[in-house]
Amino acid sequence: MDPEFARLFALDGKAALVTGASSGLGVAMARGLARAGANVVVTARRRERIEETAAMVRSFGVRSTAIPADITVDAELEALYREAVAEYGRLDIVVNNAGYTDRSGLRHDQASAKRIRSVIELDLLATALSCRLAAQHMLADGGGGVVINVSSVLGRVGSEFRAASYHAAKGGVDALTRVLALEYAREGIRVNAIAPSYFEGTEMMDQVFEQTPGTRAQATSRTPMGRLGRPEDVEGAVVFLASDAARFVTGHILYVDGGWGAGGGYHQLPPPWESEPGKQAW
Ligand SMILES: NC(=O)c1ccc[n+]([C@@H]2O[C@H](COP(=O)([O-])OP(=O)(O)OC[C@H]3O[C@@H](n4cnc5c(N)ncnc54)[C@H](OP(=O)(O)O)[C@@H]3O)[C@@H](O)[C@H]2O)c1
Repeated sequence: MDPEFARLFALDGKAALVTGASSGLGVAMARGLARAGANVVVTARRRERIEETAAMVRSFGVRSTAIPADITVDAELEALYREAVAEYGRLDIVVNNAGYTDRSGLRHDQASAKRIRSVIELDLLATALSCRLAAQHMLADGGGGVVINVSSVLGRVGSEFRAASYHAAKGGVDALTRVLALEYAREGIRVNAIAPSYFEGTEMMDQVFEQTPGTRAQATSRTPMGRLGRPEDVEGAVVFLASDAARFVTGHILYVDGGWGAGGGYHQLPPPWESEPGKQAW
C-alpha cells in the first residue's frame, strides 16, 4: 500500500473521547481508535471497567485516561469534557456511543413514563448535549473536529420489538446528526453516525438474547450476511469516519449491518424458493 495513502487513515496524536467505553461496542471503538494512533479518553459509569479499557488502549502505545461519569447528569457530562480537555489540550474526535434499549417487552401504552424518559435521556438527550459540548470545545480551539454518534438500524425503520422509545431516540440521533453536520460544515467539524444492526458480545444485546432466546435466531435470519455483528466489526468504520479518509463525508449514517438495512430487516432464511427446490416463489 502507498504509505502516503495509508496515512489518510492514521490518527496519530489525535485526542478522542469515547462514551459507553466500559462494554461492548464502545470498547471496540476505543480499541480501533487506539490502533490507528489516537489517544483515547474512555468514559462510562463503572470505574473499574473503564480502567480496564484504558489499560487495553495503552497496550497499543498511546495514552488513555478513564474518567467515570453518568452522562445523563449535566454536571458530570460537563466535568468530563473539562477534565478531558485539561488532560489532552483539545478533543479532535468524540464518539457518542453510550446507549441502551427498553427491554421490558411492553407495548408503548403499557411502558412506564420513567423507562421511556430514561431511554430518551441517555440515547438522545445526552448525545445532543455531548454534541453541543464537543462543538463548543472544537470551535473554541478553532481546529475543527469529528463527532461520531452511534445510532441503530432501528433509527430508520420500525420493528416488532416493542421498544418505541429506543426507535424514537435513535431516529432522533439520525436527525440530529444531519442537522449538526449542516450547522458545522463550514467550521471544519464533521458529524456522522454509525448505525449497527444486531451485534453479539455486548451487554445490551447479550441480555436480550438471554432473556428471549428466539431473538438471536430471528435477528440472524434477517441479516443478509447470515451472522450477527461482532464488536470488532465497528473498529474500521469508526476509524474511517474519524480519519482524513472521510474528510468530505459529513451528515452520513454509516450502516454497519451485514446488509440488514438494504432490506429493512425483511430478509429471512431460508427464502421460500430455497426451501422448496425447483419451485418459483411467485
Ligand atoms: N449491540 C447492538 O446490537 C447494537 C445495535 C444497534 C445499536 N447499538 C448501539 O450501540 C451503542 C453501544 O451499545 P452496546 O450494545 O455496546 O451496549 P452495552 O454493552 O450495554 O454498552 C452500553 C454502554 O453505555 C454505558 N452507559 C449506560 N448508561 C450510561 C450513563 N447513564 N452514563 C454513561 N454511560 C452509560 C454503559 O456503561 P456503564 O454501565 O458502565 O455506565 C456501557 O459502557 C448504544 O448506543 C446502542 O444503542 C447497539
